[in-house]
Amino acid sequence: MYSDIVMDHFKNPRNIGMMKDANIVVKVGDPDCGDALLVFFKIADDRVQDIKYKIYGCGAAIATSSIASEMAKGKTLDEVLKITEHSIAAALNGLPDEKMHCSNLAAAAFHAAVNEYRKTPAPGKSEELTS
Ligand code: FES
Repeated sequence: MYSDIVMDHFKNPRNIGMMKDANIVVKVGDPDCGDALLVFFKIADDRVQDIKYKIYGCGAAIATSSIASEMAKGKTLDEVLKITEHSIAAALNGLPDEKMHCSNLAAAAFHAAVNEYRKTPAPGKSEELTS
C-alpha cells in the first residue's frame, strides 16, 4: 500500500521538533479528519534557513510532512511556492488515492508561511489557518 520512502519517513521523520527562534509559525488543519500540522520557519535572505514541525495526524501526514520539510529546507521562497501536494506525493513515490489529501497539509502550511513572510517579514509573526 505504501512505498518504501513513505515507510522510511513515517518511521524516521526528519526535521521534527520545535524552534524557539522561528520568525514564521503556521498551523493548518484538515477539518475532515482532524489532523493538524504546526510548522516553524526561520526565513532570511529570501530562503528557508531552517524548518521544524509538530504533527498530529495519520502515518501519511507524518511522512508527507517529513519529506516536505526536506524539500523546503534551504530553498528560496519562490521554490517553496512550487511545492504542492502532488510534488510531495511524487517525492514519496506516490500515495494511495485516499491518502493524497494528507500531503496538502504541508503544502498549505508552506504557501501560507511564504505569503505571511512577504506580507510582514517581522520576527515572531505567526498565523493560524484551517484548510
Ligand atoms: Fe488526516 Fe491523513 S487522514 S491528514
